[in-house]
Amino acid sequence: MIIRPATATDLADLTHVINEIIALGGSTAHQRPFDQKRMQDHYVAPPSGISCQVAEDNGRVIGFQSLLWPRNDSDPLPAGWATIASFVASQAAGKGVGQKLFAATRQAAAAAGVTTIDATIRADNVAGLRYYTGLGFADYDRLVAIPLRDGTVVDRIRKRFDLSMSA
Ligand SMILES: CC(C)(COP(=O)(O)OP(=O)(O)OC[C@H]1O[C@@H](n2cnc3c(N)ncnc32)[C@H](O)[C@@H]1OP(=O)(O)O)[C@@H](O)C(=O)NCCC(=O)NCCS
Repeated sequence: MIIRPATATDLADLTHVINEIIALGGSTAHQRPFDQKRMQDHYVAPPSGISCQVAEDNGRVIGFQSLLWPRNDSDPLPAGWATIASFVASQAAGKGVGQKLFAATRQAAAAAGVTTIDATIRADNVAGLRYYTGLGFADYDRLVAIPLRDGTVVDRIRKRFDLSMSA
């Protein structure tokens, strides 16, 4: 398996990965399927983008991880903070792909001068919470009763990873 930066040629594969996760439900806060343009604008090459790493196994894209400077004016983060999003295809989950993606993201974060990485996760996403905790992220806040697009109300747990405190 290799980890490498995403390119425009990955857009179809990354869209497929995220749409499968959205269709399964219960993990990501996204509920609307992505098209390639939205994938490009949101995760692969947004103006606020720092890094988008792809996991490829035998030529097949099985996951990606995006790191962005804050872009939501209604939810500002402190200076130096960036926010992370991670997606691994369900057939490839639980095999360390996410851990390998984070090793690359962390390097990119340090190179970009990021001090702290935020992960904002649905409180019912047990696998996602365990994933970030296992990487060394610590809880720092909870957003209560934030609706999803379909109106379902779910808390969000916010975790932080401080680059200065990691080896
Ligand atoms: C969360 C996610 C990115 C983890 O990626 P992954 O490749 O499965 O993770 P890894 O195999 O590297 O596992 C790392 C740790 O995560 C946890 N983990 C992974 N899959 C898990 C699962 N299905 N249930 C519980 N914990 C899980 C484990 O603690 C694991 O540590 P371990 O080696 O001590 O068991 C992936 O499962 C995913 O894409 N989920 C759907 C989308 C999502 O929830 N994204 C996160 C919010 S944006």
